[in-house]
Amino acid sequence: MKPKIAVTRPIPRQWIKPLLSDKYTVIMNKENRVLTQSELESLVKGANVILSLLTDQINEGVMKAAGQQLVLIANYAVGYDNIDIQSATNREIAVTNTPDASTQAVAEHTMALILAAAKKIVEADGFVRAGKYKFWEPQLLMGQELGGKTLGIVGCGRIGNLVAINCYHGLGMKIVYHDINKNYELERATHAYQVSLSRLLEISDIVSLHVPLLPSTHHMISTPEFARMKETAILINTARGPIVDERALIKALKNKKLFAAGLDVFENESKVSPTLKKLYNVILTPHIASSTLPARKKMGEMVVKNIEAVLDNKLPPGLVNTELKSNFEEEI
Ligand code: GLV
Ligand code: GLV
Repeated sequence: MKPKIAVTRPIPRQWIKPLLSDKYTVIMNKENRVLTQSELESLVKGANVILSLLTDQINEGVMKAAGQQLVLIANYAVGYDNIDIQSATNREIAVTNTPDASTQAVAEHTMALILAAAKKIVEADGFVRAGKYKFWEPQLLMGQELGGKTLGIVGCGRIGNLVAINCYHGLGMKIVYHDINKNYELERATHAYQVSLSRLLEISDIVSLHVPLLPSTHHMISTPEFARMKETAILINTARGPIVDERALIKALKNKKLFAAGLDVFENESKVSPTLKKLYNVILTPHIASSTLPARKKMGEMVVKNIEAVLDNKLPPGLVNTELKSNFEEEI
């Protein structure tokens, strides 16, 4: 019998072409929307593989609904907080993500938010469009300069690392980072140094978040953390919304305890707080940091590689629950 792959939402066919060969039976949700939990459960019934998106909650109920033959949940994303990893591991279901496929895109989007927030680009654009521009003024919409300022990277994995390298070389920024691991390569390349989170918050002019969403990173930035930050600081979040306590952020922005924020993710996605939308000192983008053609194609390629590997009993390159590593033959 051909392996059955359930795809939770249409992805352009050319990005996942090898899956559409006659080797597999692909069941795709044809509607371009997020399925309800019960629709999801009926779609995945009998599937060997679930190709999920970060908008799908893959909980134990979904795994049960799929059935015993489910061997892989292949997430079309680098983040995987939408999947109950523990339940998957208990059931010996591999979970994979698409590491590195979107590093360049997300790092660039992060830098776009840093620059846009520092230079008040969005506010200034709105000002001109609203017909408010009279003529050059000495103090009109004054922004910040980034050269020589300190960039604090919270979570120095692939994306955080690239943001640091680019801001060091491109903008002449100083780099500090907070991570459980020491990043010797970054330290050599940029004279970066590792600091505690509280120290990072105290000394950074830009704080950029690049940690995964875990119980330990939920509300990692809340009232006490904002209190440590400089009033001239800028907070950037292109990671996951719930890492920041959004109510505390709104308070800090309203009370000018922060210069600005740049957000690509929100605490209760897809909802965006109406209060946040009213503030002029925050830039809001709709979770598009990895939305470039090269990134989305690479994500597709990685998903395909992960699926082909698991169905071939080989170690998939993006295995998340590495406890299951010994279930697979290593690629030589
Ligand atoms: C996007 O947020 C991703 O996790 O790939
Ligand atoms: C600005 O436009 C300047 O000429 O200084």
